[in-house]
Amino acid sequence: MSHESPSSSIPEAPPPRRNFLAAAAAVATGAVVALTPLAAGLAFFLDPLLKRRPSMRGADAEGYLPVANLTELPDDGTPLRFALSADKLDAWNLFRNQTIGTVYLRKLAGQVIAFNDTCPHLGCKVDYKAATQTFFCPCHASSFKLDGERENLIPPRGMDTLEVKVDLENRVWVKYENFQRGVAAKEVI
Ligand code: FES
Repeated sequence: MSHESPSSSIPEAPPPRRNFLAAAAAVATGAVVALTPLAAGLAFFLDPLLKRRPSMRGADAEGYLPVANLTELPDDGTPLRFALSADKLDAWNLFRNQTIGTVYLRKLAGQVIAFNDTCPHLGCKVDYKAATQTFFCPCHASSFKLDGERENLIPPRGMDTLEVKVDLENRVWVKYENFQRGVAAKEVI
């Protein structure tokens, strides 16, 4: 009968290099598991800050907002002023039903023309004067014709037109934009 010596059953210790590699792999796996949700959370947290621009809710995919119904506009082309409203999302804050801007709408031969009512000179609000059928800016006594053309040289350009569309239900939609003031070129800001 033979007996194994007690020392022969003890497993040999792995070489130190193998130990080190196994430990390093375990640490790396642990780091990935721990940091992935952290990175996802950080991205979610920072996303609104990275996209600094406030965004709107209520506009269609092309950025048009519903303003009025075609039947509300006088057939003789008299301009009417309307406010555009939408929900504004700024970083994490949602501001409901905010006025985005105000516009004049004119209906002419079934077509609708929209003007931003901000004066292209220094940004005052332009009024409509029914008596003279002109748009009038009270800040520097400037006026514009019904087609938006300026009647004096204080404003650097005529009133700014906006893109308009009318849907099958006769709703008038306007793509509201603001433009650089005090310059001759119509540049979106
Ligand atoms: S702001 Fe309108 S003319 Fe100056």
